[in-house]
Amino acid sequence: MASKLVPFARQATRTLTRATKPQYTQQITRPLSTTPQRQSEGGAVHRNTPNNNPSIPFKFTDQNLLIIDEILKRYPPQYKKAAVMPLLDLGQRQLGFTSISVMNEVARLLSMPPMRVYEVATFYTMFNRDPVGKYFVQVCTTSPCMLGGCGSDLIMKTCEEELGIHSGHMTEDGLFSLLEVECLGACVNAPMVQINDDYYEDLTPETMRQLLKALREAAKSTSVDHGKIPRPGPQEYQGVQRMTCEPRPGRTSLLEVYDHSKHLRADGEL
Ligand code: FES
Repeated sequence: MASKLVPFARQATRTLTRATKPQYTQQITRPLSTTPQRQSEGGAVHRNTPNNNPSIPFKFTDQNLLIIDEILKRYPPQYKKAAVMPLLDLGQRQLGFTSISVMNEVARLLSMPPMRVYEVATFYTMFNRDPVGKYFVQVCTTSPCMLGGCGSDLIMKTCEEELGIHSGHMTEDGLFSLLEVECLGACVNAPMVQINDDYYEDLTPETMRQLLKALREAAKSTSVDHGKIPRPGPQEYQGVQRMTCEPRPGRTSLLEVYDHSKHLRADGEL
């Protein structure tokens, strides 16, 4: 009888051991999901607000209308809806964000159903569906930036401390917006952030803090003094400021000056 009970006893012991065993032996300091919440565009659903509703008129400036004419010349007239992204971008640059009125105006200009424009604007994260600050700080936290240099966790923490806000929020003075984003394509210079149209790379908490301070000073200053704002691109890291994405100890290949005469036909043909 006792021998018949042995397999059941073993099974019960195994189940008990599994249930009490911790799932992860390592302390996990951040959620397992690596996809940050997409807060800049506020989801795909539009809700009317006092500063973003269809009754607020939006028209492109005369100067932008000239640019639109130029853009539309790139496409056959029957395919002018292909210009939807450059026009949305232009609208966002003029107003500061892609409001419902911007989308409606783009739909009107391109003779598109507004829904088709909404679909584009809500799919691409570069279209901000809500107003953002004068400086829109987008911190890349995808794996290479998370692991490269000091790591994006430290860069994010520095931004939060320096600005007093969290991802998806804007400072009260409207100067800075902060957002955690996915890979921005400069992984080899990790960690990096995008501020408006510029990339700042090879960052450390110190260079990140200096950058935010310089931008705040520049916004206060009446004269446009760009000299005080650090130059976009790779920042000095451990005493080295590299050119674009070349290796830190210097170039290891393509060291010779390219001699065209050796590689091209003498008659000028390729
Ligand atoms: S992972 Fe940050 S730029 Fe690619």
